[in-house]
Amino acid sequence: MTGPKKLYVRTFGCQMNVYDSERMSEALGADGYVRTDDIEDAELVVLNTCHIREKAADKVYSDLGRIDQIKRQREAAGQEMTIAVTGCVAQAEGKEIIARAPQVGLVVGPQSYHRLPDLVRRARAGAQVVDTEFPEEDKFAHLPARTVGADATGKIQPAGPAAAFLTVQEGCDKFCTFCVVPYTRGMEMSRPVAAIESEARRLVARGVRELTLLGQNVNGYHGDGPDGPPCSLAGLIAQLARIDGLERLRYMTSHPRDMTDDLIEAHGSIDKLMPYLHLPFQAGSDRILAGMNRKHTADDYLRIIARVRQARPDIALSTDIIVGFPGETEAEFEATLDVVRAVRFAQAYSFKYSPRPGTPAASLDRQVAPEVAAERLERLQLLLADQQASFNAGCIGKVFPVLFEKPGRNAGQLIGRSPYLQSVHADATPDLLGRILPVEISGAGFRSLAGVVRAA
Ligand code: SAH
Ligand code: SF4
Ligand code: F3S
Repeated sequence: MTGPKKLYVRTFGCQMNVYDSERMSEALGADGYVRTDDIEDAELVVLNTCHIREKAADKVYSDLGRIDQIKRQREAAGQEMTIAVTGCVAQAEGKEIIARAPQVGLVVGPQSYHRLPDLVRRARAGAQVVDTEFPEEDKFAHLPARTVGADATGKIQPAGPAAAFLTVQEGCDKFCTFCVVPYTRGMEMSRPVAAIESEARRLVARGVRELTLLGQNVNGYHGDGPDGPPCSLAGLIAQLARIDGLERLRYMTSHPRDMTDDLIEAHGSIDKLMPYLHLPFQAGSDRILAGMNRKHTADDYLRIIARVRQARPDIALSTDIIVGFPGETEAEFEATLDVVRAVRFAQAYSFKYSPRPGTPAASLDRQVAPEVAAERLERLQLLLADQQASFNAGCIGKVFPVLFEKPGRNAGQLIGRSPYLQSVHADATPDLLGRILPVEISGAGFRSLAGVVRAA
């Protein structure tokens, strides 16, 4: 008797890829595949890739080299292995991937995931398959609905995780001059409110208590509303907040230009919307921001932050920053540090500019020397680490509602999330997984907090 077909998925890049990997696994699950954590045991390997910076894209090829070894070992033992490359590198490089790495059987771009089971069947029958079209049909409408309770084989699923991602918007029309996303994910599209609500309800029925609404420009959301006219992200959040059993909502990633009044107000008026905002500003110099095609100034950004803080004074702020954009001078870099000092972030992601093929900034003169960019990044990261540590230290002694999500490293411990998205470690029994309990914060590190569960 042959067992179920084994599927191994490795995910790179942003949360949207994490979500896509789940949807692909479910689509393949309906076709008889079960996930394995052991790549050597897998008949199908999916590498869900990221193209955002050069390092991320290079990682795919080094991985493909290692996986090829495993594929050969399996084949020597009479077992098959099909390798699929999905995600943003698949979209950007298409059939070049197979030319460079002929062990790859299948290349599928993000807009074709609903065709995956069929494409995999063709690849396993010996074809080399490349699908990087932007099809007319909406993949979300064609992917299998999120399962609840019994799965396709009639088996009752175990309770799912307490927090989940839900993609509500995809693609980007903003064309920041450094960024590949408009080319890899296509034009902005928003899913209809009804489709999102029905998916949210299914996830809640699986045990999800917290949803993070995802989109490359999530606050540009403008899906068809329940009664026809387009609905804003704030409207969508208000709608989802009515779902019983769904306790927490978050969203990412936002663009300053789409930080509308109703969304800012929602932070003050919707209790289930968590006090956390990830709002990239990229650079502090207006000349650099113009070169990036961001269409906002540093002052615009600071004004938005002030308004968000007015609506929700305790909000934790996060951001993305790029150093060493072509032509960035020392004084222009200092302007970035000034914005960081003015805002005081709870956490942040910062990157050295990486020239990406096909983007306008890659062909600009005056690329910043790598050692200069590295030194600037180091200075920036020291400042950010300091802000993060003091944000966390300021939490000691407070009592936060913590949603327990997974077992901790030590027996008898669970890890949960504070409203401000910090990881919180506490002694707690496994029956508390999926529950929100008051936790008194007793210790703070750079990355996480420690606390003690108080009686609810
Ligand atoms: N849609 C989001 C983020 C997209 S990518 C936004 O508009 O902000 C995530 C982050 O990667 C970006 O915010 C940016 O800081 C960084 N990034 C994108 N392209 C990059 C590049 N070529 N080099 C370095 N960092 C980059
Ligand atoms: Fe990229 Fe800019 Fe679009 Fe964000 S807004 S995904 S940085 S092009
Ligand atoms: Fe990477 Fe694509 Fe996300 S390039 S950051 S996986 S949208």
